[in-house]
Amino acid sequence: MTSAQIENVVPDAVDLFTAAHRLDPYPGYRRLREASGPTAIRLGDTEVTVLSRFADCAAALQSGTWGHGNVDKLSPFWDQEASLPGSFIRMDPPDHRRLRGLVNKAFSARMVADLAPMITQLVDRLVDRAVKDGGLDIVQGLSAPIALAMVGRRLLGVPEQDADLLRSWELAIARGTDPEPLLSAEEIKRRDEAGAAVVAYMMELIGRRKAHPEDDLLSRLVAVEEAGDALSVPEVIGICVLLLVAGMETSINLVGNGILALLAHPDQLELLRQRPELAGPAVEEILRYDTPTQFTMRVALTDTTIGDRQFHRGDGVIVLMGSADRDTEVFTEPDRIDVTRYAPPSRASRHLGFSLGLHYCMGAPLARLEASTAIRTLIERAPGLRLATDEPLSYQPSVIHRGLVSLPVELAPTAA
Ligand code: HEM
Repeated sequence: MTSAQIENVVPDAVDLFTAAHRLDPYPGYRRLREASGPTAIRLGDTEVTVLSRFADCAAALQSGTWGHGNVDKLSPFWDQEASLPGSFIRMDPPDHRRLRGLVNKAFSARMVADLAPMITQLVDRLVDRAVKDGGLDIVQGLSAPIALAMVGRRLLGVPEQDADLLRSWELAIARGTDPEPLLSAEEIKRRDEAGAAVVAYMMELIGRRKAHPEDDLLSRLVAVEEAGDALSVPEVIGICVLLLVAGMETSINLVGNGILALLAHPDQLELLRQRPELAGPAVEEILRYDTPTQFTMRVALTDTTIGDRQFHRGDGVIVLMGSADRDTEVFTEPDRIDVTRYAPPSRASRHLGFSLGLHYCMGAPLARLEASTAIRTLIERAPGLRLATDEPLSYQPSVIHRGLVSLPVELAPTAA
């Protein structure tokens, strides 16, 4: 036992992070929530505490006494920072504030609104072609191309011909963001090689943008780096790697998880078809019901408590947002997907899909726009949307990121 005063070790909890739970982690989360509050588990040599209830998760995310502790080498979690350039998602103030502030401007409501026509055009093109073809893979043929165009090209400045390369690096790094003890030696190697390849690639691209700036976020970051000491080149690269994983894997998975949930609940799909204006609220509900980022980690920066539990400086917690958002203390019928749950004037509690507090997702407006455009267009243009396989669907191996490897669907242009 570490210094956290924890009695109730639920053996089931460790199973949460095994392949058996990947298909449907939610019954396991429920058992955990109902059995106990904070629950100690062992990850490799490390004991950490899993927070599964909404109130406990929200407390850790919002309180300044919890952070990452990397500067003080407090973190009991994983060591990928050694192979990947540090990114501010794992930093505490003041570095976090400085770096987030520099990138934040690029995510203003105005910037996202400017991207709207481009997203609409791309989604129209992809869906029209798929309707002609009679089907598509939602992940490979819709959500991944959107994310590659927005994050890959518009933000990171990566040209279209390198999209496949970027996606393969992104997948290896996304898998590698799971806690280190859950990774095989081969996965760690692939992550580290992908990390090194991205760093070399971005170094080269930064050189090109210095000579010839373009209309992308990378050029703006390079200009800040060149203007003074506000940003260093390794920090620019750290931001790029962060956007690659935080921005791409998540938004790809949101659309896949969402369409799958709607196919599994035809009444909700039909409701959305009749009331397409519910696409926005439906995206919020998908973020609650089957969120792409299942958990995050925090470290106690001082001795502190959550509920009646005491933690000591350096203790680690896993904040299980995927569980918090199914908590009956906060949500009515949380295991039911209801695309009207977040429709005005509803007063449903906010979900934790984009986290809370200092690290609240910066890309939330962009992710919402991408997903609602994709889902709405697909449903409007293809009333005959249905699953195109009887085979079991497979999930990506990551446990932090929840998303399908592929989701083949059939599309019929008009209702019979
Ligand atoms: C459905 C899509 C998305 C989901 C579910 C999601 C989820 C999250 C979550 C849960 C966090 C906080 C992690 C923590 O508290 O430890 C986060 C942070 C972040 N996200 Fe997203 N995200 C999504 C899309 C995006 C996009 C499209 C971008 C950018 C292009 C982005 C950029 C970021 C950044 C930069 C942070 C770090 C913020 C900080 O540390 O201050 N995300 N995201």
